[in-house]
Amino acid sequence: MTKRILVTGSYGQIGTELVVELRERYGGDNVVATGRKKAPEILEEDGPYRRLDVLDTTQLHTMIVDEDIDIIIHNASVLSATGEKNPQLAYRTNVEGGYNILEAARILKLDQVQIPSSIAAFGPSTPKENTPNDVIMRPTSMYGVTKVFIELLGEYYAKRFGVDFRSLRYPGIISSETLPGGGTTDYAVEIFYEALKNKKYTCFLEKDAMLPMMYMPDCLKCTIDLMEADEDTLEHRSFNITAMSFTPQDVADEIKKHIPGFEITYEPDYRQEIAESWPKSIDDSAARDEWGWEPEYDLAAMTEDMLQKLSKRLGAEY
Ligand code: SER
Repeated sequence: MTKRILVTGSYGQIGTELVVELRERYGGDNVVATGRKKAPEILEEDGPYRRLDVLDTTQLHTMIVDEDIDIIIHNASVLSATGEKNPQLAYRTNVEGGYNILEAARILKLDQVQIPSSIAAFGPSTPKENTPNDVIMRPTSMYGVTKVFIELLGEYYAKRFGVDFRSLRYPGIISSETLPGGGTTDYAVEIFYEALKNKKYTCFLEKDAMLPMMYMPDCLKCTIDLMEADEDTLEHRSFNITAMSFTPQDVADEIKKHIPGFEITYEPDYRQEIAESWPKSIDDSAARDEWGWEPEYDLAAMTEDMLQKLSKRLGAEY
């Protein structure tokens, strides 16, 4: 029997493409896209879009019952840079929102809940290279603090109440469809737009700020693969996940192979400090061993695909 899936934050960078992919696989009507804003057209094409504020528990519970939901993928979140500008908003959205989802899963006996975590859940005292899955996590950004909390709370709900909670610690996600909003890794998307539009980009991180990254097709794949994994095969519930690591200079050099005149300059701001507190590379062997994770795109393959897709969308030749 096909499961009914509700996605929060569905007009966000990941949500937009995740809803399209889930609808292709499981049927448009079985995937309820939700968010607080008016939906972009793409989300209303092949299935339902509903207004939902996850801080409104009555509305949340009513929607789960009325739509006969089995699984929630809770993508609504305030990211790292916005979280530093407005820590109170990040607390409400990420902590109270996540708690409401876990409580709904417990009370209404949902089959599964997936709430993303992030590389931001690690901190300055975490080993930076090949960061293990199970390691010290003392984040210093508000976003990171909320993500560690949700990982721990989800694992508690699994142990205490039998809620099937799962979480991926996403690295920076690069995509051509929807822009990211308010993250430290957003430069890795902006750089492609600026390369195509203006052949130059001013980066808000240092040129050697190495961070773990992933291209959207791999992000969709790991999200759905984890959702479909047999619970009995999972030893963990929160997983490191990565596809590549690069610096702003690395991605600029790769773009130059396609757009020789491209130029990058650096004007690091407050986001550099956030980046410095995160791992440079990630060991995702737990995801590989427990549910067969394997990424497809490296920096070269991603750059080629991004430039092709984006140049078509923007009508910018290169
Ligand atoms: N992309 C996120 C951010 O930069 C990391 O999870 O905030």
